[in-house]
Amino acid sequence: MPLRVTVVGTGYVGLVTGVCLAHSGHLVTCVDIDRDKVDMLASGTSTIYEPGIEELLSSGMASGNLTFATPEKGWGELISDITVVAVGTPMAPNGAADLSAVRVVVSSLAEAADRPFTLVMKSTVPMGTGAALRHRYLDEAVVRIGYVSNPEFLREGKAIEDWFKTDRIVLGADEEADRALMRELYADIDAPLVETDVASAETIKYASNAFLSTKISFINEIANLCDCIGADIDAVSRGIGMDKRIGRDFLKAGIGYGGSCFPKDTRALDFIATLNGYQFTLLKSVIEVNNRQRLLPVVHVMRALPDLHERSIAILGLAFKPDTDDVRESPALDIVPLLAEQGAAVRIYDPIASELPVAGAARVADIWQALQGASAAVVVTEWQEFRELDWERVRQAMAGPAIIFDGRNCLDADAVRAAGLTYMAVGRKGEHRFGMNA
Ligand code: UGA
Repeated sequence: MPLRVTVVGTGYVGLVTGVCLAHSGHLVTCVDIDRDKVDMLASGTSTIYEPGIEELLSSGMASGNLTFATPEKGWGELISDITVVAVGTPMAPNGAADLSAVRVVVSSLAEAADRPFTLVMKSTVPMGTGAALRHRYLDEAVVRIGYVSNPEFLREGKAIEDWFKTDRIVLGADEEADRALMRELYADIDAPLVETDVASAETIKYASNAFLSTKISFINEIANLCDCIGADIDAVSRGIGMDKRIGRDFLKAGIGYGGSCFPKDTRALDFIATLNGYQFTLLKSVIEVNNRQRLLPVVHVMRALPDLHERSIAILGLAFKPDTDDVRESPALDIVPLLAEQGAAVRIYDPIASELPVAGAARVADIWQALQGASAAVVVTEWQEFRELDWERVRQAMAGPAIIFDGRNCLDADAVRAAGLTYMAVGRKGEHRFGMNA
């Protein structure tokens, strides 16, 4: 049975939630305070870059299942039986999650509510937030407002696929009526349900991202060790990943994780732990390893090119991962300023991402412009285009010693070397042994 749903926030999570629920047949209104965004979406244009989203946007609007609104007409009118909160929780300067947008929305909904509804929290909020919001706002409302913690596990670039083919749906609620409504909402998705209390659901979200981050920092430590001892991280990852208890995913070594989720969520979890009097030692190391890992290309380029101020360096990739234009917490944001500060002329090429991380570095529209005369090229993002490069032509374009630092271990090392380029990577076997501590 179609349900009436309101999704507050048309950022990444909100928009994907809205279009996917509309595709499942629900009657969805997506709300955002940003009128320009709402106008753009209402005209059928997506405000985010995500494969498949434009199609779901058009089909949702054509079927009448999907509409957009600003809160101008009053929250009371906008509240549905299921009202999903999907606004941003960016990182505050102290590392905590900034909940100000969540509080504004929840208090507005609670104040305006004149009939019962279920509030579904999809924003990533720290453990204890659900209890605090209920106590402060929802319990004060004149009608019953149920609360469900329903975290998302969507990857950028694969969000639509992840929505419909999720490994699990987590429903944290204290009352059966709210859970029953949520089961109805997700009736067409074939995935196991994890039904639990609110605090446990909130913890599942942070623990999932922290565990995946831990896998990445772990394999990066092993890769650095491989560099020190001359072992090969590709073989090691394959060899350990075949053990089903370990699993193959998230064992790709490189210059570490970025994006809007892992860096923010690991730091927020560390903050929550500290606030609760617990020192989460392992998590602190995961964060430290990641902060250090992204400096690897700078360390090695500086070591190989002491006269950096006379050199040009090409940065290949700005986005935190391929198939997105998102540069948030991309390693490029640390690498580029450091190289520029050393006096290097830095030229950046990315097929999609356009945000410039630093003044003084130039973004070029053509990869060959970036490579021309460069003494080193750092692969920050594993775009397919970089894997398919004509390495002979790269060698001719670059200046000596023509270093290719493969920060994502994504290139064919033999092909790069065969063209006469100097290949460096993270823990891949070769003539270069550059353990970070060496
Ligand atoms: C991540 C999670 O994968 C989603 O499940 C979660 O819902 C989302 O955060 C979120 O909390 O909203 P996302 O940030 O889109 O999704 O990116 P991932 O594909 O997970 O990659 C994160 C970073 O880890 C990227 O910088 C990627 O390059 C890096 N990574 C990933 C590695 O360095 N090695 C790997 O083996 C895998």
